[in-house]
Amino acid sequence: MFDGAQLVLGLGKRMFVERKLGSRQAYVIVCGNEKGGSGKTTTAMHLIVALLNSGHKVASIDLDTRQLSLSRYIENRKNWIHKNGLNLPQSDHAHLEKANTDSVLDNESSELRRFSEIVQSVEKSYDFIVIDTPGHDSYLMRLAHSMADTLVTPLNDSYIDFDVLGHVDPVSGEVVEISHYATMVREARRHRRSVDNGLLDWVVVRNRLSHLGSRNKVNMLESLKNLSMHLGCRLADGISERVIFRELFPIGMTSLDELSEETIGSGPSLSHLAARQEVRSLVTMLRLPIDEVGKRRAEARKKWMDPSQKPYSELRIFAD
Ligand SMILES: Nc1ncnc2c1ncn2[C@@H]1O[C@H](COP(=O)(O)OP(=O)(O)OP(=O)(O)O)[C@@H](O)[C@H]1O
Ligand SMILES: [Mg+2]
Repeated sequence: MFDGAQLVLGLGKRMFVERKLGSRQAYVIVCGNEKGGSGKTTTAMHLIVALLNSGHKVASIDLDTRQLSLSRYIENRKNWIHKNGLNLPQSDHAHLEKANTDSVLDNESSELRRFSEIVQSVEKSYDFIVIDTPGHDSYLMRLAHSMADTLVTPLNDSYIDFDVLGHVDPVSGEVVEISHYATMVREARRHRRSVDNGLLDWVVVRNRLSHLGSRNKVNMLESLKNLSMHLGCRLADGISERVIFRELFPIGMTSLDELSEETIGSGPSLSHLAARQEVRSLVTMLRLPIDEVGKRRAEARKKWMDPSQKPYSELRIFAD
């Protein structure tokens, strides 16, 4: 009998083994959250531009076969650059076509094979692979999570979004249960560790923070801090609700691009600069292997893992 789970594991393992055999492996960043509209695509695009601006070779993959928002964002950037003769860096992008046969299994397996081909075609020649995922669970999305070196989960500053990670006692604010998505990330971590001994650094970032101080904001932060200890994730400083994160999509620009007469027809506003600062803080907080410190840290993490055949319980899986 054909077993879909076997296929995922088989392909997943093959991909990992081939990654291991390759001389050079790209660092994989996945933007994920089972909650739709939390800012995955916006974050992915900003990370891509941050990495490009620091001189890295970046491949991007859009796994959201339905919406293809990242693909559209990147297409808009390409067109805007072309139209205005700009000299701005771009990622090499691939997206997954939605398979449309009558068989769900056939669709999933062909999407999986395509994903495997894309990863294999870029992982040896690029520094980073940034993967945007859809806001719903699928085994392709699970596979992407289990390949991640860094998982970035943007979260709207609302308990409805928080609920995707954990359930909270309404009186004490204590986390009483880990939710479906968080459990999936935990499994992805285990899978990753069992296949290539790799570590997944999980960073949750609150998105669309309101400028108005509110009781909810404080409580959310406290609940999140509490939750992060249960989940083994790190918390990044939040990104504010700002029009700039919406308005630049049609021209494919981000707050990290040079915003000038030449690129957007006017200079940057104070809000642009504040947005840029927030995104830069996020990138710094991710501690990606982009500078000497980040590279040393990634190397140390790798070395630390390599000789250890320690039981899972002894592993310090939380990045500090
Ligand atoms: N910090 C922000 N300030 C203002 N608008 C934002 C911010 N972050 C994201 N948005 C807007 O919120 C909407 C959802 O963002 P985005 O598409 O990045 O989320 P997503 O998690 O990828 O959604 P989906 O699950 O549908 O793929 C978009 O209109 C985006 O422009
Ligand atoms: Mg999206």
